[in-house]
Amino acid sequence: TGFVTLDSGFKNTGATKSAITFLDGEKGILKYRGYSIEQLAEKSTFLEVAYLLIYGNLPTQSQIDDFQHQISRHTLVHEDMKKFFDGFPSKSHPMGQLSSLICSLSSFYPECLDPHQTKEEFDLTIIKLLAKMATIVSWIYKKSLGHPVIYPKNKYDYVTNFLHMTFGQRTEDVEIDEVVVNAMNKLLILHADHEQNCSTSTVRIVGSSDCNLYASISAGISALWGPLHGGANQAVIEMLEKIKNDGGDVDKWVNKAKDKNDSFRLMGFGHRVYKNFDPRAKIIKKACDDILTKLGINDPVLGIAKKLEEVALSDPYFVDKKLYPNVDFYSGIIYRALGFPTEMFTVLFALGRLPGWIAQWKEMRENKEPIGRPRQIYVGENDRDIVPIEKR
Ligand code: CMC
Repeated sequence: TGFVTLDSGFKNTGATKSAITFLDGEKGILKYRGYSIEQLAEKSTFLEVAYLLIYGNLPTQSQIDDFQHQISRHTLVHEDMKKFFDGFPSKSHPMGQLSSLICSLSSFYPECLDPHQTKEEFDLTIIKLLAKMATIVSWIYKKSLGHPVIYPKNKYDYVTNFLHMTFGQRTEDVEIDEVVVNAMNKLLILHADHEQNCSTSTVRIVGSSDCNLYASISAGISALWGPLHGGANQAVIEMLEKIKNDGGDVDKWVNKAKDKNDSFRLMGFGHRVYKNFDPRAKIIKKACDDILTKLGINDPVLGIAKKLEEVALSDPYFVDKKLYPNVDFYSGIIYRALGFPTEMFTVLFALGRLPGWIAQWKEMRENKEPIGRPRQIYVGENDRDIVPIEKR
């Protein structure tokens, strides 16, 4: 037993040593493997960043070609998996489907169940997961429309292939716009890792019991679903729509968020670690303006979002509590401009976060970390005797 320190929500508890992501919440700095998020978002592709996070260095040309080639060989999902899609109610939430489908990969590829896979075997498990995740995500979308699924075309790079399967048609060829490919790369990079957040900690703790990679990632997807975490991107657009339909009175909603008797919070605002600004939000806000202009889209909720940010950031409540827009505040406006429905937003977050989860799981195993098992401070009853049921 011994002495137990209570830290609800693990606000001050370091759970691991990690060499993957550096985050300074006071200064608003985020780096993957030593590279700033600003540089990566500007100069890399999502697949390069995935490689960087998982293997520690940016790939050479031949390494990235090989990585892409291997992924292309595994983009098909087992035909029997299509039966799962048919079984879900048409309106079921994409995150519930994604979590189940990713967990089911452990049944199709049971070699992952061996906690002592060789490096080569484990690398193949990673490749399969990265490859099939993009196919599964796009098929979830197609099924939500009641449309036939589109098979991967392996001449495309990772992101273009994903967009092809998502927005392609069986009836005609659909050009994938470069602006959309670049925007998607940027968004996925910005979501790719964020050290020991709720879903990543979940992935590590599930994996720490020697549970397989697919099931651990499935648990991470479930953790991400909540509106206080990745689910916030869906909640933000729903909130902005509500404000718009309510006449656009931003002050009224800011006051509602300040009211301690009202459970409403400004979605997309505040962060456990960032207490100055969220560097991802800065990049996304600018990208949002650029992309909507390039695509010639005028979305009224962007105006509401900007007004909301302006009003909140000049209000002492938000200033004193150091609450700033986070990564989820503007991302949904971009996803929407690219053509994604609101319910898909958190699934896109999961697609972006996948390399980070994999890298963190791999690090946890390579460091031979012990099983995760927090303690507690017991505050329940002591020493009770059972009273027969008729006398209770
Ligand atoms: N609107 C109004 N008040 C807020 C908000 C908000 N969005 N966020 C925090 N506060 C207040 C909160 O009521 C508390 O006030 P007090 O000290 O008077 O009790 C104070 O600020 C500190 O908040 P907390 O909930 O103790 O902080 P936390 O670190 O436990 O929670 C958070 C962080 C992100 C869950 C929270 O800020 C929140 O609920 N934000 C809205 C949901 C959201 O945007 N989530 C996405 C997070 S970033 C991406 C990701 O993780 O996926």
